[in-house]
Amino acid sequence: MGAAREHWGSRFGFIMAAAGSAVGLGNVWRFPYTTGTNGGAAFLLIYLALIIGFGFALAIAEMLVGRSAQRNPVGAFRALGGRGWPVVGYLGITTGFVILSFYAVVAGWTLAYIVMMISGNLGTTDPEALNQIFGGFVSDPVRPVLYSAVFMALTGWIVIGGISHGIERWNKVLMPALFVILLVLVVRSLSLPGASAGVDFYLKPDFSKVTSQTFYDAIAQAFFSLSIGMGTLLTYGSYLSKDEHLPKAALTVVLIDSGVAILAGLMILPAVFAFGFNPSAGPGLTFVTLPAVFASMPGGVFFGVLFFALLAIAALTSAVSILEPMISYFVDEHGTSRHRAVIVAGLVCFGLSVPASLSFGPAADVTIAGKNWFDLMDFLANNVMLPLGGLLTAIFVGWIWKAAENELRNDGRLHLPWVPAWHLVLRFLAPIGILWIMASALLF
Ligand code: PFF
Repeated sequence: MGAAREHWGSRFGFIMAAAGSAVGLGNVWRFPYTTGTNGGAAFLLIYLALIIGFGFALAIAEMLVGRSAQRNPVGAFRALGGRGWPVVGYLGITTGFVILSFYAVVAGWTLAYIVMMISGNLGTTDPEALNQIFGGFVSDPVRPVLYSAVFMALTGWIVIGGISHGIERWNKVLMPALFVILLVLVVRSLSLPGASAGVDFYLKPDFSKVTSQTFYDAIAQAFFSLSIGMGTLLTYGSYLSKDEHLPKAALTVVLIDSGVAILAGLMILPAVFAFGFNPSAGPGLTFVTLPAVFASMPGGVFFGVLFFALLAIAALTSAVSILEPMISYFVDEHGTSRHRAVIVAGLVCFGLSVPASLSFGPAADVTIAGKNWFDLMDFLANNVMLPLGGLLTAIFVGWIWKAAENELRNDGRLHLPWVPAWHLVLRFLAPIGILWIMASALLF
């Protein structure tokens, strides 16, 4: 422990960092295609209901635990909950390794696509040809691995800089840049002739596609997108001073996150329809269909580079926030220097990303429970570990940590009449909702 804990330089800096964590590949890469294949606006409505129903309450809860304890996830649960509870922190740290192992792979692809876009390798409107380019690239045993290495090096470099001089400083630049790029691309997409068919597809609810699996996908998406359930918001909250007004900051972050997800759909689907491409191309929507869209539009290389830069920025600011909880754990609990912790954890994460990358090539047939490494890590993190972390956090703040309500009111100083409702959500709605959704998807 030793030296005083570093804090955010400003409230704006904290909000940009937390929004940078939330806004990531989950919003821009995963959300549009998941919505596209899950009944469009029907999925969007369920997703928003889950965020309003308990995502927001959980985001506040996590930040609050961190702010009160002023420690990493393991130390925070130990300080406030005592014996047994640090397990939730360890679960979170482990989840970070699991997520980064596949996150770094897709993030590496975004860097590669910036390069390929600039060098003109993607200049064809034929989706079949682009499918082959994508397949050829991701199955290569070397190139995607190198791009993941570059991505992890960038991530580590920002985290080494510390809280205010590294994470905050970069988020304050990168997040506004991301918003500007997003708006430019949404306007470009919506102004294409024929764009409205995409808007209809995106926003017209098709409830016949809704099953228990839809709810499960929506909850996994909500947790992943808000960065809930692995101690990231807790760790970022631990760098806040005790008198910060938490609910407002959390609300801003939730609004930015959902807003960007919705806008990402409006950026992608109208353009896809305008040129007559197939919207339900699944995960390949971004890397196969969109290059064809860009090749079809005037100034496509410019917009294409902007798009993949947006994706890379979103991925980078999120990866930073996935790495930081581990680093704060090693620094707080083991007295490791930040430098050393980042290098070791970064190398381990990169090591874990290699089999994930090879899952698209030489190791495609190496499966556990029918899933290759990439899919297994993705499934474990999104569908098991994050919901479990969220469930345990809700139980902890709802039932175990008696001072929660008072702490949220900044030691009783703030008059917040809705705090009992927030507490009830954590006690009942969140745990029952999470368990019910997980059980109905896994058992039936
Ligand atoms: N929220 C990020 C995204 O939507 O891509 C991913 C993420 C970041 C998940 C941080 C979990 C986390 F702790």
